[in-house]
Amino acid sequence: MDRPLPGKISHPPTGTVPGQGDMLQRLRLASGLVLLTFATLHFLNHGLGVFSVGLMEDFQQWRLALWRSLPGTVVLYGAALIHVSLAVYKTARRRTLKMPAWEALQIVLGFAIPYYLIEHAFSTRGTHEMFGVDDTYTHELSILWRGLVPTQSLLLFLVWVHGMVGIHYWLRLRPWYPRLFPYLLAFAVVVPAFAMWGWIDAARRLWLLGQDEGFFTGEQSDWIDLMTWYGRAILIAIICGVGVLLVVHRVERRFRAPVAVTYPGDVVVRANTGGTLLEISRLNGVPHASVCGGRARCSTCRTKILSGMDTLPPPDAHEREVLAKVGADTDVRLACQIRPTDDLTVRPLLPAREARRSAARVADAYHWGVEQVVAILFVDIRSFTTMSERRLSYDVVYVLNRYLERMCAAIEGAGGYVDKFIGDGIMAIFGMATGPRIGCREALEAAFWMDQALREVNKELADSLDEPLAIGIGIHAGPAILGRIGAAGSAHIATNITALGDTVNAASRLESVTKDFGAKLVVSDAVIKAAGIDISRLEQNEVTVKGREKPLKVVVFRDITALQPLLDDDGGAHPIN
Ligand code: FES
Repeated sequence: MDRPLPGKISHPPTGTVPGQGDMLQRLRLASGLVLLTFATLHFLNHGLGVFSVGLMEDFQQWRLALWRSLPGTVVLYGAALIHVSLAVYKTARRRTLKMPAWEALQIVLGFAIPYYLIEHAFSTRGTHEMFGVDDTYTHELSILWRGLVPTQSLLLFLVWVHGMVGIHYWLRLRPWYPRLFPYLLAFAVVVPAFAMWGWIDAARRLWLLGQDEGFFTGEQSDWIDLMTWYGRAILIAIICGVGVLLVVHRVERRFRAPVAVTYPGDVVVRANTGGTLLEISRLNGVPHASVCGGRARCSTCRTKILSGMDTLPPPDAHEREVLAKVGADTDVRLACQIRPTDDLTVRPLLPAREARRSAARVADAYHWGVEQVVAILFVDIRSFTTMSERRLSYDVVYVLNRYLERMCAAIEGAGGYVDKFIGDGIMAIFGMATGPRIGCREALEAAFWMDQALREVNKELADSLDEPLAIGIGIHAGPAILGRIGAAGSAHIATNITALGDTVNAASRLESVTKDFGAKLVVSDAVIKAAGIDISRLEQNEVTVKGREKPLKVVVFRDITALQPLLDDDGGAHPIN
């Protein structure tokens, strides 16, 4: 088995974020992803103009076959209709225009894109369907080159920024996002630059070579102008309608009987019905934590309802799920999900100052803690206390540091994260960014390399040790809470991620029972199955773990080198519940 083993494994997507949005949010996300896929392929097609117009035409044939087929048309135009309708619906339901800058940017871009897109759509697919125009790249580039370069470039830029901001705020709470952020940022910059370079250069070449042959007849131009006028008129009417609704809500708020919301410190604000509690807080300048922007994903807006709970409708399944994930009491609700219709007395549970500080670290899901399925490994030196009592303390520190250095290298080399040192013991987490299947294989690989490293340490220190060091390793996998734990202001809080929960306790227990079995490694069967290893050939046993009703099924390894053939054989993985 050649090092490094992890290179043999393909990494599946993973990561859990509390709550994924209600049905409308999911629809908006799905439709947005369809539109972004269309835009990305379209822009990459533009970029091929860097090489030749012929290449652009070839790729376009394939692209048009996809999007102009009946299913492609339904999916694309359906997504556009859904995305725009839901954006209008959400904006019209707002009770306040106070919002983070990125939300405001998304709304402005969301309305600006169709304004510019309408003309482009009617002059490409519209004329193709209406007049049978063969809207090839040569045709379109010839037309765009004659005065439409600025607006077309602006449209490309608006679409891409809107898409990328949406993707960023969708994924930013995923634990693996910070790691991939530099690559995604590079993608976000390279694609539009490539597209602009491609289409402008190709259009310029056609013009220089006198091959800019595309034009519209008078009838076609008039039709495009008329359709564009209608389209934009409808869009402006919708925007005005939304604006009128917002003004009406504002006027209503002045004249209708308001709801009184009492915050800590007897701060009373009055608001109209219809808005969420979070919007009421924002509208009235009451600090209220909200990391996900009111999408029921982060739970940071959770609020204790001190009075008036009976006037609120019960939480829907989605809100219940988010509250359950943070173990909230029954008198706690998400401020972004409740719309008070009567007086309330409330106490936001997370300080807004802390939330803002965290919002600056938008990509750091671990600051708030996430529940995630991971593999946990514990390792400990057998009888180290007895050994250390017989040696000079300098000697002990030297031996221990040499040992820990090699063990950490083995853990990190296999893809693990060293959580903490507990005396001569180490706790490590696997699969934080790669998912449970890879994490379990990595943990087993780490055990193999730790055993190899220990042999080398024993050889190096043979003259200083009365007897070779021996270790016991326990590995278990399951859901754990991962978060940055520490006192606010401590230097360590920004760096240390730790895992908490039942899975950690069970892994620690497996490490300690290695002594009872006279084994080097005890692994739960969940790890073995998730890693895709055939368990039937292995020595199985059961271990009782405090707090668990049923004993834990485990596999006992007296010789860790027995892992080598098992890991070389990449079997089918089994999901961890
Ligand atoms: S759940 Fe994130 S703001 Fe309400």
